Amino acid sequence: MKRFPFYTTLILIIIFSVSTILYLNSKISMRNTKLYSNHQNKRIFKSKLMKKNDEVVLSFVVCDSRFNESLNLLKSGLIFTQSSLHVVIFAEDDLHKKFNSTLTKWKMLIARPFTFELHKINFPEANRKDWMNLFSKCAAQRLFIPALLPHVDAMIYVDTDTLFLGPIEILWNYFTKFKATEISALALEDENPNVSWYPRFAKHPFYGKCGLNSGVMLMNLTRMREFGWIDYITPIMLRWKSNIPWGDQDIINIIFHYHERAVHELSCRYNYRSDQCMYGDACADATFNGIFVLHGSRRAFYSDKQPAFQAVHRAIEEFEIGADLSPKMLLVNMEKYLNETTPSNCGNLKDAFLKIPTETFKKHYNLPDR
Ligand SMILES: *[C@@H]1O[C@H](CO)[C@@H](O)[C@H](O)[C@H]1NC(C)=O
Ligand SMILES: *[C@@H]1O[C@H](CO)[C@@H](O)[C@H](O)[C@H]1NC(C)=O
Ligand SMILES: *[C@@H]1O[C@H](CO)[C@@H](O)[C@H](O)[C@H]1NC(C)=O
Ligand SMILES: *[C@@H]1O[C@H](CO)[C@@H](O)[C@H](O)[C@H]1NC(C)=O
Ligand SMILES: *[C@@H]1O[C@H](CO)[C@@H](O)[C@H](O)[C@H]1NC(C)=O
Repeated sequence: MKRFPFYTTLILIIIFSVSTILYLNSKISMRNTKLYSNHQNKRIFKSKLMKKNDEVVLSFVVCDSRFNESLNLLKSGLIFTQSSLHVVIFAEDDLHKKFNSTLTKWKMLIARPFTFELHKINFPEANRKDWMNLFSKCAAQRLFIPALLPHVDAMIYVDTDTLFLGPIEILWNYFTKFKATEISALALEDENPNVSWYPRFAKHPFYGKCGLNSGVMLMNLTRMREFGWIDYITPIMLRWKSNIPWGDQDIINIIFHYHERAVHELSCRYNYRSDQCMYGDACADATFNGIFVLHGSRRAFYSDKQPAFQAVHRAIEEFEIGADLSPKMLLVNMEKYLNETTPSNCGNLKDAFLKIPTETFKKHYNLPDR
């Protein structure tokens, strides 16, 4: 019998080993994918889709009496946004049913893709009471989001007392402008240190010369996790808890005091509060280019002190998703209510309130010029 030459035998052995390794490998990776998808995380898959579709992720936290307010906020997002929207809501248990039924209804009435997930309020057991009572109930929840939502890459976090006046995807675009060191984008508390609350009253470190307002916050959660965000917050809360009247916002300021390069500064037009107009125009960018996100802090949407804020809020509140009221009527109402307000410094900047909604509707609904 002719024996195989040495080299042929060697080559056969190599081919056999390589194919065995390849086969075993494919088995292992199949098992891994299976484990991965069994791991209840359809959402991991989803977050991959999110990036592909350029889905915008919006998040907010709702406790107590903020339910109606948060629906107005979401409504404003749905009215102006053209891209698909995924909403992540943290809410007290007794609100889940109400959210589910309202948003399920809206989902059917809206042509664009709109999805949502509901989460319970979830604080670490240690120091739970401290966290719950910081500033307003549940407000500190947002600090834990990087750990609570490992399946989400990035989100725009907003306080419930905000209203979008333009498409959220325009704000979302700022994520692409982040430098390598930047993990989050926020607007300053004020652009003038002479009037900003932080340099005048804060008893703790804060960001830059003026401090940050956290009512609108772009969070790249992937980068916040890499940064080790969660490890910072509890020691800071324990160290400063008796000196941080604005709670979570102050904690954010303390962290970014030591990490200025992690912040991408947003223009004041993306977090426009009555501070930006009540003593005269303090946000030129909004005056020229329009207010993009209106923030009714200190109850500006409900207080007679800020009739212009009230007027815009009223128009959006009266707008019903799925009813016959057209976007054009929303715009007419907004202008009408602004016209009817008693004069105020903020009301004097009426055009800044109307500019973005007018432009957005003209673009998407072919409205004639006013
Ligand atoms: C919320 O809205 C509902 C229906 O529009 C209304 O009946 C209710 O009084 C509102 N609640 C608050 C706290 O404003
Ligand atoms: C939300 O409502 C839908 C339809 O009414 C129901 O199938 C679903 O189980 C509810 N989800 C939650 C989290 O309550
Ligand atoms: C967030 O940061 C990660 C890591 O740098 C990056 O891969 C991802 O694209 C960023 N997300 C967005 C929305 O920019
Ligand atoms: C702040 O106040 C100082 C002293 O009164 C003044 O010189 C400076 O111009 C003010 N800065 C701004 C930006 O208003
Ligand atoms: C608001 O007032 C302006 C000028 O005062 C007027 O041109 C406009 O038609 C008014 N709009 C509405 C909807 O009342």
